[in-house]
Amino acid sequence: MIGQTCNNIPTFAPVKSLQQIISPIAAELAQFEAFFGKTLQSDTEPMGSIMRYVRDSRGKRLRPILVLLSAKLLGKVNEQTLRAATFVEMVHTATLIHDDVVDNSDMRRSKASVKSQFGNLSAVLSGDYLLAKAMMLISNDTDILNEMLRTTAAMSEGELMQSLVADCVSQSEKTTKYIDIITRKTAMLMRSCCAAGALSVQATPKLVQQISAFGLNFGILFQLRDDLIDCENMEIAKALLPVYSEKALHSLESLPLSEVNKALHDLTLFCAEREE
Ligand code: IPE
Ligand code: MG
Repeated sequence: MIGQTCNNIPTFAPVKSLQQIISPIAAELAQFEAFFGKTLQSDTEPMGSIMRYVRDSRGKRLRPILVLLSAKLLGKVNEQTLRAATFVEMVHTATLIHDDVVDNSDMRRSKASVKSQFGNLSAVLSGDYLLAKAMMLISNDTDILNEMLRTTAAMSEGELMQSLVADCVSQSEKTTKYIDIITRKTAMLMRSCCAAGALSVQATPKLVQQISAFGLNFGILFQLRDDLIDCENMEIAKALLPVYSEKALHSLESLPLSEVNKALHDLTLFCAEREE
């Protein structure tokens, strides 16, 4: 530990940059970007303009990165991997667009949110459009589709459950409910990213299960850090972050050791210690 932020979040010596961490999949990520850009296109207006706006508002691409790393850890990235990677980024993007309507947020990724740029109606409908087009992408693979549909439903449940934490009486009840909520709203998608990457390269059920366990722990620690950054649920999140960081790193130990495994390791540290 080298210091503390204004919120008393411990800070650590800088870990590798995201750019450095993902260098083993640089070529595959470029393929993903091309596929993603093409899939977002609409030849109608105004959807076409909204989709161009969405394409030009990039996030960290963490979910497709998880799909690509999981696939490359256990096999060779192929078209099904790219479809799954595009699916998860589209679903993630749709939830952010809808969230900004629900939360009445005007900014997203340092730009005007879709809601503020185009209005609520456009935001709701373009989010729905992204979800529908995403489903089409993976409708050819029942295993990946089943995994993803379960997760997408859970994300809506988790988002709606958030109001219930306040009703919990004891601290342990609160902690259990909190973990349940962040599992559904964030971690299950991260788990599905890893599962889909593994499924796309025909990994054995045991390996699919092992990489999924990593994804789940990774997703929980990601949301814990996100809450610390946003100054929400500070006490619980601060206590649980080291626990889930340890669990995530531990889940990698039973998986094949390679530079891709190292990348997943470094990505875990990056997310546990990120400031934004
Ligand atoms: C934000 O996720 C929403 C949460 C699940 C906390 P990211 O921080 O991965 O969003 P982008 O894609 O980089 O903008
Ligand atoms: Mg964020």
